[in-house]
Amino acid sequence: MPLSMPLSLLLACLVLLASLPACITFTPAFVTFTPASTTFTPSSRLYSEPDMASPDMASPDMVSVASTSISRRSYNSLVLGGSLLGVSALGSFEVAPDDYGLWGVLPLGPYKSKPSRLTTIVPGTMWSITQKFGILNVQVPVRCVITRLSTGGLLVYNPVACTREVLSLLAPLVEEHGEVKHVLLATVAIEHKVYAGVFAQKFPNAKVWINPGQYAFPANLPTPLLGFPLSRTSYIPSASEDCPWSADFETATFGPLISRDGAYGETVLLHRASKTLLVTDLVQQVTPEVPEIFDTDPRPLLYHARSTVDEVLEDTPAVRALGWRRVVLFALFFQPAALKIQTLDGAIKSRRPDVNTDFAGIYPWCWEGDDVKSFKALQGGLLVAPILQKLILNRNPVETLDFVEKVAKWDFNTIVPAHLKEQLRFSGKDFKDAFGFITEKGMKKGLPDPLKADLEFLRDLETGLLEGGVLARAPPLLGRKNTREDLIRQSVYECRGEFCTVKSEP
Ligand SMILES: [Fe+2]
Repeated sequence: MPLSMPLSLLLACLVLLASLPACITFTPAFVTFTPASTTFTPSSRLYSEPDMASPDMASPDMVSVASTSISRRSYNSLVLGGSLLGVSALGSFEVAPDDYGLWGVLPLGPYKSKPSRLTTIVPGTMWSITQKFGILNVQVPVRCVITRLSTGGLLVYNPVACTREVLSLLAPLVEEHGEVKHVLLATVAIEHKVYAGVFAQKFPNAKVWINPGQYAFPANLPTPLLGFPLSRTSYIPSASEDCPWSADFETATFGPLISRDGAYGETVLLHRASKTLLVTDLVQQVTPEVPEIFDTDPRPLLYHARSTVDEVLEDTPAVRALGWRRVVLFALFFQPAALKIQTLDGAIKSRRPDVNTDFAGIYPWCWEGDDVKSFKALQGGLLVAPILQKLILNRNPVETLDFVEKVAKWDFNTIVPAHLKEQLRFSGKDFKDAFGFITEKGMKKGLPDPLKADLEFLRDLETGLLEGGVLARAPPLLGRKNTREDLIRQSVYECRGEFCTVKSEP
């Protein structure tokens, strides 16, 4: 069935925005607004009631405002503006402990309510706080990692939305191990960047370190204007030994890879004592187990578990697992092959709010193909997200492989990524193998390798981005026919502002 292009495009844009965002740009200059900036005083009189006895009110098009006459249109605008401001202020009130008043800055699910889960990764040393994020109920875990420093205090890697609940989860750690000393935004990706400035403001004694290559779109604002506390924000040092946390961690920054409107880059840390590698988006693991954070609200899973709009499902572990499988496929492919999308008109006509009330009962697709096979193809090891494989890392393969080679030499047995499963039991060799897609040899048998059919949407997207000049053409795969030198010669190294794409030696 031919796709409804408007609906398909809308879905793609929304899901793309909510997912790995390396090619997505955003202007985060206002991410550090405090709720106070949106408050107003309801008792303040913005206007005076019209005096009906006044001869000045003879014209119905005029209103008396504080002894001044203004047009009816201006009056209506004031009322509308005041109402919207009031709604905005009410929307930012943090009533529940898991409310996040600034949710509207990047309105991703679960919107204002952002429940959190604390997990111990290394007893007495390392913890994580996980929330959910996504759009159209395609919600996946997003987490930060907190580590006790041997020199005292805590290091927070990729903060999440700083709710009162998060502060209460951190309080015992601060009490026992000392204050938050370092806050790292170890990526340029929006779903992490949007929370870092606000989090940093809650810990005024912490130093803030941001990944090189930050950008804003459509205006590429200078970094000091991107919403971080100016007096205590710096770039993460390029040399590991220059990092103030070097007693506990090795540090390595990948990229930035600069494209026309965006960038990709992230900084990974190796916690030597626990042999734990912290990454943001570079690798992840797809597993059938439903992440615990969905215990706080399984509705996104129940929404997506349906094969058709009118399928009625009970909330059971099996149904949640089915929903999780489809959420993962959505998040990684935006439009997996097993999905059949309806026309917008058809989706509205067939909506079933009596079955599921989310989005007014609209469920604009059905699952017809073999999504089990698609999901299985993603399992068996570490996975590099398809969007990174097909649109980003393959633009600069030599620089990617050089970075992977460097990290693969580190001594680790656990990887903690920002998304999906939390503690991944893999080594440096496994890490290196995950990037086989970028060479002629390809992925080793048994390792995650997305089905070609599921990559069709990304291929179409790539074509569009190439035609629009957003992406540079990818060089061929590294192998016998194409050497490092060939690839470097055919790669594009763009600059924007103070940042240029890193370039490896031939
Ligand atoms: Fe991410």
